Amino acid sequence: MKHSFSWWRNGIIYQIYPRSFKDTTQNGLGDLNGVAQKLDYLAELGIDAIWLSPIYPSPDVDFGYDVADYFDIDPRFGTLSDFDNLVTQAHQRNIHIILDLVLNHTSDQHQWFKEALKSKDNPYHDWYLWQDPSAAGGSPNNWYAHFGGPAWEYVPSLNQYYYHMFCKEQPDLNWRNPEVKETMLNVFRFWLNREVDGFRLDVFNMYYKHKNFPDNPHKPIGRRPFDRQDHLYDVSQEEMFPLLREIRGILDSYENRYVVGETFLADSEHASRYIGPGLLHAGFDYGFANSKWQASQFSSAIETWDSLHPEPKWPNYFLNNHDTPRSATRFKSDEADNRCKLLAAMHLTLRGTPFLYYGEEIGMRDIRLKPWEIQDPVGKRYWFAGQGRDGCRSPMQWNDSVHAGFSKAKPWLPVHPNYVSRNVSTQEKDPGSLLNFYKEIIALRKQFDALNSGTIKLIPSNDQFILSYLRIYKNQTIFVILNFNKRKVTYNLSGALLETQWKVLFSQHFERDSDINNSAVELEGYETLLLIGH
Ligand code: NOJ
Repeated sequence: MKHSFSWWRNGIIYQIYPRSFKDTTQNGLGDLNGVAQKLDYLAELGIDAIWLSPIYPSPDVDFGYDVADYFDIDPRFGTLSDFDNLVTQAHQRNIHIILDLVLNHTSDQHQWFKEALKSKDNPYHDWYLWQDPSAAGGSPNNWYAHFGGPAWEYVPSLNQYYYHMFCKEQPDLNWRNPEVKETMLNVFRFWLNREVDGFRLDVFNMYYKHKNFPDNPHKPIGRRPFDRQDHLYDVSQEEMFPLLREIRGILDSYENRYVVGETFLADSEHASRYIGPGLLHAGFDYGFANSKWQASQFSSAIETWDSLHPEPKWPNYFLNNHDTPRSATRFKSDEADNRCKLLAAMHLTLRGTPFLYYGEEIGMRDIRLKPWEIQDPVGKRYWFAGQGRDGCRSPMQWNDSVHAGFSKAKPWLPVHPNYVSRNVSTQEKDPGSLLNFYKEIIALRKQFDALNSGTIKLIPSNDQFILSYLRIYKNQTIFVILNFNKRKVTYNLSGALLETQWKVLFSQHFERDSDINNSAVELEGYETLLLIGH
């Protein structure tokens, strides 16, 4: 009997960075109607939900992650009625909508902060984190901002400092103020009432800071001053747990809603503490983002994250997002897609929800910018260290027409020059393309419960280049074997694996026999082989 399909557990989530997806107003920025226009493409790809990076009014110091109004849409992206239309259209195709909520900080252009700056008596003053200068004069404590420099910004007219973890134009909110908390909880309700299906919480474990603002202890090692501190007091305070329960309570009062959190400065173990019944449905782990091209590194990332998610918890995995160089660039500099295919096969056959990032399915590579072309605030500050995040945010490559069919106007970031050959339209026509590979594996994931819901058992291999595991659901077993080597390898089946009769479910190599009759299985370079027990 088929189990019931849960969109966020068994399905696939696709992240869209809206300003780079599809421009319908020809201002060089993508917009909501652009996303709506591409829903058929996404439905055909086989995804179940879209996570939209922030779409609220923003002065764009951090490209939407500095929100100036939580209850509206940035006019450059459209209107609330465009948003409602997008939700309706998506739902008609069984695609769910997840919004990015950036509730740790606002923009300094938010009305609340403008009021807060007016005087210490202003009702909004206490909505942010203010401290007097230290006894010796100067910063209230030793905290640094993640985006560089001290975390405290002095306001001479008030003779006070306000706190910011990111840019100084992103002041942190005071979640200990009950009015702030209530307003933020109303942000959830506002969008839930507009039929949104879930949220991605930006740096949620930062909402609370220690109420006395003590100095963080020093650490001997670290690249920047920020890294040479133990962040005991500016992140991960225990007060987050009751708050998450409240947030989850709100979500659970609606039907089938979901919340995934971005944990900041936390290892896998710490991140997993926030996940579970009554808390987050899911959190992000950086295991894949930090892996080198080695089967063993991916295997241990899977082992770690999976073992932190015993039932009823359910893991998720991502290879790409808007803050990380694209996997196609991390693992390959030329135009071949063999490695992308192998990673796609791994990502889509794991126990856990795959999060795809727009353009990953066509193997988009990072763009390279000249220092003066950089837009990202982190890139501007750390350009010399190649730290910027613009590379992975370039416009989606739809076809080979001007600006890759993204816009008729000059896009906000340059299109990758490879768009002439690397684009959706070309790949749709090529049966061997990466895009068609994604579609095939996604279809298999949908078809086989072992892939979308089964348990996972990693199988130690005789070859360092092989990553292999079993996915098991009731009496269905699928055996995934992935060759990380560009050369042929021989994989030896042993132990209990020899007792099963294996049939080929998927391979890129059509000449393969459909039955595996030998304990030694030959895999071509970068081959994905899926076997099914029978
Ligand atoms: C994490 C987001 O992913 C990143 O893009 C942003 O700059 C920071 N949070 C600040 O909101």
